[in-house]
Amino acid sequence: MTDSDFKELKAIDQMVCHWLEELMHQAQELVQSHLDVQHKDGDTRNLVTNVDRENERWLDQKIRTFNPEAKIISEEGFGDHPLDMEGDVWFVDPIDGTMNFVHEHTDFAIMVALYRDGQPLLGWIADVMGNDIYHGGPAIGVQINQQQLPASPDLQLSQSILMLSGRRLVAGDYGYKTLAQKALAFRVIGSAGITFSYLLKGQVNGYFSKLMPWDVAAGRVLAESLGFIVTNLDGQALNMLSSNTVLIATDSTHHEIVTMLKG
Ligand code: IPD
Ligand code: CA
Ligand code: CA
Repeated sequence: MTDSDFKELKAIDQMVCHWLEELMHQAQELVQSHLDVQHKDGDTRNLVTNVDRENERWLDQKIRTFNPEAKIISEEGFGDHPLDMEGDVWFVDPIDGTMNFVHEHTDFAIMVALYRDGQPLLGWIADVMGNDIYHGGPAIGVQINQQQLPASPDLQLSQSILMLSGRRLVAGDYGYKTLAQKALAFRVIGSAGITFSYLLKGQVNGYFSKLMPWDVAAGRVLAESLGFIVTNLDGQALNMLSSNTVLIATDSTHHEIVTMLKG
């Protein structure tokens, strides 16, 4: 990586951090306000609010102004529908954990990621009520605000706290029950972004969920940069254009889970 490539990445990183600071402060005010809440796809547990839509419209517009050639994959319909990962592809989740945003007023995030020719380049997760931004990538390292984060320790499954999807656990999908029993403990947070923040801080060692591209894009960049392995259920690479059953874990836990699910 040349000096000018490094400087370009640092400049993009700082620019998006400023965007997210602005949205984070707005969302901190809006969380207590009257929200326009609607259900998506006739599912009473799948919520969207005016803030989700306004955040996405604003972020997609910022990205298009900065990077007009880029493609955007975002949740609420303001983005594009690219058929490949060539060039610059941005991912936007304008509120991740909308159920928490509406009902718990905490544990929700705003997420952005940038991939170039399919390679994870930069990721940002704003933990809105924590007032923290996790950001960086493989070339520039990972920071929480201004503080560099270290690589996570590698633990066995029996020593690991696993983050799971409540929906998959209840449905009993993908050997979930056995996994939950074999881990040291399991937790369900309801926001992929906040779940990733626990992984990045080394508080938990694995996360297993079915996720859309905008749910996983930022977390994948940051987690891989800290040595986590991010694959689908059978250990294969993710397809960033579709939903995946995503397994994120440190080396030993990842190996143990993939082997267990194959058996
Ligand atoms: C949801 C959250 C949740 C995950 C769901 C996502 P949304 O995101 O990240 O943790 O289990 O699959 O859809 O819809 O609130 O942005
Ligand atoms: Ca999401
Ligand atoms: Ca969302």
